[in-house]
Amino acid sequence: MATAFSENRMNASVPQWQIRLEAPGDGVEALNADSFGPGRFAKSAYRLREGVLPIAALSFVAVDVDANGRDVLRGSVRFWPISVGGYEELLLGPLAVQSDQRGCGIGIALMQAGIAAAQQGPWRGILLIGDEPYYTKVGFARLPPGRVKFPGPVDQNRILGLSLKAGELLNLSGQARRGQIDEPVCADGAGVG
Ligand SMILES: CC(C)(COP(=O)(O)OP(=O)(O)OC[C@H]1O[C@@H](n2cnc3c(N)ncnc32)[C@H](O)[C@@H]1OP(=O)(O)O)[C@@H](O)C(=O)NCCC(=O)NCCS
Repeated sequence: MATAFSENRMNASVPQWQIRLEAPGDGVEALNADSFGPGRFAKSAYRLREGVLPIAALSFVAVDVDANGRDVLRGSVRFWPISVGGYEELLLGPLAVQSDQRGCGIGIALMQAGIAAAQQGPWRGILLIGDEPYYTKVGFARLPPGRVKFPGPVDQNRILGLSLKAGELLNLSGQARRGQIDEPVCADGAGVG
């Protein structure tokens, strides 16, 4: 399913990417490894992903098409089910764009596709840990310090939230926990539900 296109695909001087749902074999893990390195597994946000699969209906990729008609991965965004204060919410990330493709709008387009799809679901809001100046471009705002507790050290200034329900203020509060367990592994994950 293509949800967004870049400029005219006939114009060879313009990046020719499109946004669609992630499919097996797209190479997202390799992109995340290149973008974040092995240190990503030590981050607090990963405690909320241990043994949990990303939500397939909210996992989007940006792809280009090579001369053989094969998709080439340009960027990816995933969302994970978490609970905060007992409510089902979403955690955005990882968001990554190939280093030679940055600054073309891919990251914003990926998030917009994910947010639009998430608005159709049961979640009240989306949380992430990231750079406020970037994520404000799609509507995220910093949460009051101490409002949401993560399983591990987090810079409070980087905890951002976005309300998914029109006219409803984001009112997340409490301990962030894993929303479910899909793969019971011996790991260092956060509590569940
Ligand atoms: C962050 C990232 C996803 C942005 O993707 P992108 O496709 O280059 O971003 P876009 O083209 O959609 O947006 C570019 C705009 O965002 C700004 N921007 C990008 N990263 C930013 C950041 N960390 N802080 C503030 N602004 C940022 C750019 O300056 C540009 O602004 P402009 O439109 O006013 O010129 C990409 O740089 C990346 O993959 N980085 C490595 C992985 C990473 O850090 N992911 C985010 C984890 S929190």
